[in-house]
Amino acid sequence: MFSRISRLGCRILNETRVAQNSVTKRSISRSSDQNRFLNPMTRFFFSTDTNTSDKAQSDGNQSNETISVTFVDKDGEEKHIKVPIGMSMLEAAHENDIELEGACEGSLACSTCHVIVMDVDHYNKLGDPTDEENDMLDLAFGLTETSRLGCQVIAKPELDGLRLALPAATRNFAVDGFVPKPH
Ligand code: FES
Repeated sequence: MFSRISRLGCRILNETRVAQNSVTKRSISRSSDQNRFLNPMTRFFFSTDTNTSDKAQSDGNQSNETISVTFVDKDGEEKHIKVPIGMSMLEAAHENDIELEGACEGSLACSTCHVIVMDVDHYNKLGDPTDEENDMLDLAFGLTETSRLGCQVIAKPELDGLRLALPAATRNFAVDGFVPKPH
């Protein structure tokens, strides 16, 4: 009699353990199911990884990071290019095979990058030329009221639509000794 009661007790104990195990497994499994669902949501709402949103933002801004510029050569032929913000008109011209010399490569020691801003509104949006730029401009061939040195004109959003005329000649005093050099 005592051994039957003891066997019954053991069975009840075993069944209780099995039942507990299965409840625990179910709750682990449910919690991992929930995690599987929650993890992407958590990543979306609470992630500190900003790479994805930064990338999307930078992709979205990409079209705003260039401006449209038109170079008009001495024959009136136009070349439309996109210029990244921060790039000088001299660099942009060189990257696009536009004949703008730039003998001193932007170090304000020549006037061969002379360009004429065709629209006064755009001219007024440029910063004032420095004394060094003015000194070089004074030596430029065919100077006008809206002349600038292409190496000193830096692309910025307000200059979108900028039109620049290339003078018929440049004066490379460093190389030619002030002899006007026709293009
Ligand atoms: Fe010489 Fe602009 S490239 S001053």
